[in-house]
Amino acid sequence: MEEVSSVYIHIPFCHKICPYCDFCKVIYNSSWVKAYLPKLKEEIIESYMGEDIKTIYIGGGTPSALSMEEIEYVLNLTDIFNKDKLEEFTFECNIEDINNDLISLLKRYGVNRISLGIESFLEQNYPYLKRKNDFKEVENKIKMIKDMGITNINVDLIYAIPGEELKDLKEDIKYFLKLDVPHISTYSLMIQDNTCLGIDKVKEIPEELDYEMYELIQKTLTKNGYTQYEISNYAKEGYESKHNLVYWCNLEYYGFGCGASGYTFGVRYDNTKSLTNYLNGKRRDKEELLDKMAIMKYEVILGLRKTKGINIREFYNKYGVNIADVFPVKKLLQNKELLYIDGYLKINPTYLYVMNEILIKLV
Ligand SMILES: C[S@@+](CC[C@H](N)C(=O)[O-])C[C@H]1O[C@@H](n2cnc3c(N)ncnc32)[C@H](O)[C@@H]1O
Ligand code: SF4
Repeated sequence: MEEVSSVYIHIPFCHKICPYCDFCKVIYNSSWVKAYLPKLKEEIIESYMGEDIKTIYIGGGTPSALSMEEIEYVLNLTDIFNKDKLEEFTFECNIEDINNDLISLLKRYGVNRISLGIESFLEQNYPYLKRKNDFKEVENKIKMIKDMGITNINVDLIYAIPGEELKDLKEDIKYFLKLDVPHISTYSLMIQDNTCLGIDKVKEIPEELDYEMYELIQKTLTKNGYTQYEISNYAKEGYESKHNLVYWCNLEYYGFGCGASGYTFGVRYDNTKSLTNYLNGKRRDKEELLDKMAIMKYEVILGLRKTKGINIREFYNKYGVNIADVFPVKKLLQNKELLYIDGYLKINPTYLYVMNEILIKLV
């Protein structure tokens, strides 16, 4: 097993709570942050085993919702890690928090990738997303980030919003393309029970329209020089997220903070989503020591999210078995749900949208 070389740090504070969000987060409160940060430090110091760290991702919540001093405290924590071999260091920001001082501070600590949750530019989506984006402001802020030397930028786009039509999505994508960033994550709006949208019984859009939107995104982004390297993620050449690829390649990573998940030394774990429990030192919600079969299942489920698929030889070298001897690959190859191309086993691009059904048949 390769050594752990990635770190995720969760900052569960936001300026306000979005009606669709089911992530681990609370409204920013300085006394909670004050209590949280030392606990985070404690967890890192207790768990980190001194490996070389190649990717760091500070996500949330909204890490940029913290004050400058608090952000500096978090960035300082990353100095605990051996960063000599650091390749990618992402920090999630909300557009309204972006300013010169923040970017300078992030750069000083080696941040070289910014992820922005923009979601949509259309006024009509406001009732569902409660996110206001003025295109000019977003464009100027992104230009500022680039001018200050961080060109590796991701933006998140949400589609399949109630009332949205293909023509609306087309307009939104046009705005996103104008931002000229090298990475875009696209998410179909999920309505979960314990969110405001779920409580209000807002309905998801019809499945066929959702598929048409997925296809529209796929076609438009591909035509504009982006490669779909994972079911929801598109990048210009060389800008695929190294950190996220760690997840999809089934490699181990530390997850620190309330609500974080991790995979270290053969154990997959979920930290508690309750801030109170985390602050009281009740850190773990779930821990599972994986046996070989479980690890192979993860390898298949996560690996097939990548459009490139799973390298058959690497699978054999890692587990000492042929993937087809463990999973019913042959049958799915026969009915063209899976393809075997150039040493990689992958989902037939035509069926990528329904990949979950294929995965169920497979594992
Ligand atoms: C947890 S958020 C963190 C980013 C940042 N807090 C923000 O919202 O701008 C990561 C991304 O997940 C996506 N997301 C969150 N809730 C979602 C939902 N219910 N359906 C689809 N995408 C969702 C959004 O695109 C969001 O930017
Ligand atoms: S979507 Fe992002 S900003 Fe909104 S509540 Fe969730 S984590 Fe916070």
